[in-house]
Amino acid sequence: MDDFRSAIGVDLHLEPDAGEGRRNGLERALRDAVRDGRLAPGARLPATRRLAAELGISRGTAKAAYDQLVAEGYLTARQGSGTRVAQLPSVAAEPVGGAAHARAPRLDLRPGSPDVGAFPAAAWLRALRRAVATAPLPAYDYGDPRGRIELRTALSGYLGRARGVIAPPERIVITSGYVQGLALLTRVLDGAEVAMEDPGLPFHREVVRRAGGSVRPVPVDERGARVDGLGDATAVVVTPAHQYPTGVTLHPERRRALTDWARARDGLIVEDDYDGEFRYDRQPVGALQGMAPGQVVYLGTVSKTLGPALRLGWMVLPPHLVDAVADAKLHSDHHTESLGQLALAELIGTHAYDRHVRASRLRYRRRRDQLLDRLGRRRRVRGIAAGLHALVDVDDEAEAVRRAEAEGLAVGRLGDHWQSPPAAGSGRPQGLVVGYGTPRERTYPEALEALGRVLDGVR
Ligand SMILES: Cc1ncc(COP(=O)(O)O)c(C=O)c1O
Repeated sequence: MDDFRSAIGVDLHLEPDAGEGRRNGLERALRDAVRDGRLAPGARLPATRRLAAELGISRGTAKAAYDQLVAEGYLTARQGSGTRVAQLPSVAAEPVGGAAHARAPRLDLRPGSPDVGAFPAAAWLRALRRAVATAPLPAYDYGDPRGRIELRTALSGYLGRARGVIAPPERIVITSGYVQGLALLTRVLDGAEVAMEDPGLPFHREVVRRAGGSVRPVPVDERGARVDGLGDATAVVVTPAHQYPTGVTLHPERRRALTDWARARDGLIVEDDYDGEFRYDRQPVGALQGMAPGQVVYLGTVSKTLGPALRLGWMVLPPHLVDAVADAKLHSDHHTESLGQLALAELIGTHAYDRHVRASRLRYRRRRDQLLDRLGRRRRVRGIAAGLHALVDVDDEAEAVRRAEAEGLAVGRLGDHWQSPPAAGSGRPQGLVVGYGTPRERTYPEALEALGRVLDGVR
């Protein structure tokens, strides 16, 4: 598809995924090019006949791709002046302030985000259009703090079949992402001690503290969270499918020990299933919640499957916590925005969500394979074949990060994930947390090469 460049007159890559199809690939390439400014507002696109001839696709496919992008507002089509790039509001806004909003580095392999360039814009628009067109009037009013019944019903079926979660709709609360679920639950637990994996995500520890909880570290080894480290904690937050950031999975014996602990102590297990759909070497292991639905609060999110911008997540609660969490949700923000919920229900109901997850699984699996190939046998990559990040061993994390910065590359650092600084001579492992899911498709090879050069130069 190199000829695409000559048709469009600028340097544009078109790399359709296996299974993505020509039309989707063309749509995505054009959408990306408009978004990141490679196709300037007002630029004229080639006629469909010429584009089709150069790409070796049918004229109908080229026209369908143009029509879709006109419908999405990226392009305009006017009789006589052809198809042009629309004037979009500037997306290169100044940073708002604070590290979380800082301008993105040139090459970004930090963990945390999926490839947002792969957001299924067309499917989402279709689902949203249908949701708005068919929503009953009460959907436009204040509603149930647990969220729309349409979405809770759709999730009940999806979570049961895809993740083995026992999720009756009345025990689901829709949240604005995982992070709100964690905050609501901590508030309901009212100052409780919450055990959290160490290493783990510092942001989530801070969320628990700010919601009034105190955080106790739970060590993680190659079998996942160490259940003997729970002490008198009221609740424990775990990532059983794919520990963040070490990438290990919770061993079956530990799963059993954890549910035994919860039953014996009346403790609560908070299961963060943030990337449970993404397992590459086998079928995903079912959620822990299916083993002990009375002891586990299950939390899921679309942040990895669709994108963090939607701020859509869900909690599946044991019966005794439903009212208290729904009340906390009510007093937090009434409920999560309803039309997005209806669109997600539509996406799940039509199986467009499953199709997107399957295509994403192929993409991220390929990226992980490419990472392993580039790093070769000399470098140990920890963790299972899953998710959107991998932990790569290095002897000198600080030196590796310095070299990465010199390459214009940002990566995560294992050292940032510990709950307390390592004691001198503690021999804590060092490593880079590589978010191979983060870059756009066309910049991934360059990011990978830069990472390879960094690691070639450090021990
Ligand atoms: C460990 C972990 N849990 C959960 C999430 C999802 O959070 P949210 O749904 O609030 O975007 C992430 C996202 O980066 C994560 O890394």
